[in-house]
Amino acid sequence: MTVRPRVGVLASGSGTNLQALIDAERNGALGAGRIVVVGANRANCGALARAQAASIDTFLVEHRDYPTREAFDATVVAALQAARVDWVVLAGFMRILTPGFLAAFPARVLNIHPALLPSFPGVDGQGQAFRHGVKVAGCTVHFVDDGVDSGPIIAQAAVPVLDDDDDARLRARILVEEHRLLPAMVRAAVEDRLVLDGRRVRVLPPPL
Ligand code: GRF
Repeated sequence: MTVRPRVGVLASGSGTNLQALIDAERNGALGAGRIVVVGANRANCGALARAQAASIDTFLVEHRDYPTREAFDATVVAALQAARVDWVVLAGFMRILTPGFLAAFPARVLNIHPALLPSFPGVDGQGQAFRHGVKVAGCTVHFVDDGVDSGPIIAQAAVPVLDDDDDARLRARILVEEHRLLPAMVRAAVEDRLVLDGRRVRVLPPPL
């Protein structure tokens, strides 16, 4: 019997990256990976609705209910462990993780960030890049550490910034690449094809 790696996804927003993962699982593009649970820190966020529509278990942990980041993270970790996840994917999850969280899933937490790191970490990477006037923007999938978007880079995709762009057009162009890159790297993760060597990550090709 094939063992299917179990993926937990955390999100805060509309959940289009989650949807890309759900769609990838459905069409075989996550390999054997299976999204077993989706957690959110905002009630009524689109991500929870998308997960429910796909009959995936969900949990809600609202950070204002917790006195500290550690207490919040401990609750999220407990929910992910209860679902026996092997990998954690942050798909628009707007929280910085504590060392306690990361210790529960060492080198097993991935994030998608809508900028070419290490430029423009933190909130609104696309807007930061647009206002800065860069000519090339993009997105990054990286391992999560306890800094702000500072973990080892797994993969990046670049898009041009056009003279007549506005913030919304650039955002949409980057999002197309996010939806492609994140499922591809989650697949590489669940197939144990990410090799971490210091800060450098090699993505091994799929087996023939
Ligand atoms: C994405 O741009 C993601 O990179 C960023 O937040 C946005 C979330 O979008 N961290 P969605 O919730 O996946 O639609």
